[in-house]
Amino acid sequence: MLDIQQLARKNVRELKPYSCARDEYNGDTGIFLDANENSIGSVLNIDLNRYPDPRQIELKARITTIKGSEMDRLFLGNGSDEVIDLLIRVFCEPADDKIMILPPTYGMYKVAADINNVAVVEVPLTSDFQIDTGLVFRNTDSAKLIFICSPNNPTGNCLREADIKTIMEKFNGLIIIDEAYIDFTPKKSWLPKLNQYPNLVIMQTFSKAWGLASIRLGMAFADPQIVELLTKIKYPYNVNGATQQLALEALSYGDKKNDLVAQILTEREALIKQLEKLKIVEKVYPTDANFVLVKFQRAKPVFDFLIEKQIVVRDRSQMIRCDNSLRITVGAAEENKKLIDALKIYRG
Ligand SMILES: Cc1ncc(COP(=O)(O)O)c(C=O)c1O
Repeated sequence: MLDIQQLARKNVRELKPYSCARDEYNGDTGIFLDANENSIGSVLNIDLNRYPDPRQIELKARITTIKGSEMDRLFLGNGSDEVIDLLIRVFCEPADDKIMILPPTYGMYKVAADINNVAVVEVPLTSDFQIDTGLVFRNTDSAKLIFICSPNNPTGNCLREADIKTIMEKFNGLIIIDEAYIDFTPKKSWLPKLNQYPNLVIMQTFSKAWGLASIRLGMAFADPQIVELLTKIKYPYNVNGATQQLALEALSYGDKKNDLVAQILTEREALIKQLEKLKIVEKVYPTDANFVLVKFQRAKPVFDFLIEKQIVVRDRSQMIRCDNSLRITVGAAEENKKLIDALKIYRG
């Protein structure tokens, strides 16, 4: 059985966190002269003159009701990117501990580790973008965290459930499953398995299906001990008041989110069909996300040509197993049409 406290850094375990003014009084009515805010109001005609709830109680209550989880199993961050950084800072001793990543994958795991001077063990995915579990276990001895992105960015596919399960059962550290793109796949979230695996952290975000990348709101579902450790080291007001208000409002529009997802899936299928017809395209990889990885005969000149046409995609050619590949986000219908029209006139 994994001892989460022992896994955390000693200084974090022993840390006495900053206590903010609002930690000492739970009521929401009263005369608040404790936090040096502007008591008269704000220059904007919106209710933003008070510091936000550092524990995000109302928002967490709504999210956990919708997700069928519990309040003490949810951590909210300034995007999932903050959660990634905080997980590394809670558990990894700089210059000493390691994380494991499975490239090609989302770039922020390595960047966050590099910022914190934490080493990164890279275990590449197989040629069909699945986990090489044998290689994972030959390298896990010293890694404290494994980041598993499913559906994976930039490849778009989900990683095999059986492989993830094997890792969860055998790995003696935390398994972080990044489900940023979970709404775009028929495959199930790992969320219902949380109670079974105390070493599991599931990250989701408001940036993709909900269409709220700008408000910066990421979620981590995990064992209450992990949530408590993350809460201990976060900045007190890491999720700002406007974000909390907007997210609460957004959660009443679940149908609208589903509708957006359905539209993206329709566009995705149409886009894939069009891309597959192009001679310059070698392969359109299967995708379970709101983007598609496309292999070209030569990607760089295609990328440059699209930039000339003011169409911006992401060149992933430098990543392992992604040579000559561009990652293309599914656009709105007219954007996809402009992309395809441009690719049709490209002469490499
Ligand atoms: C796999 C993955 N995780 C996390 C993020 C970042 O999410 P957020 O906007 O919540 O920081 C991204 C953004 O592209 C992503 O691709």
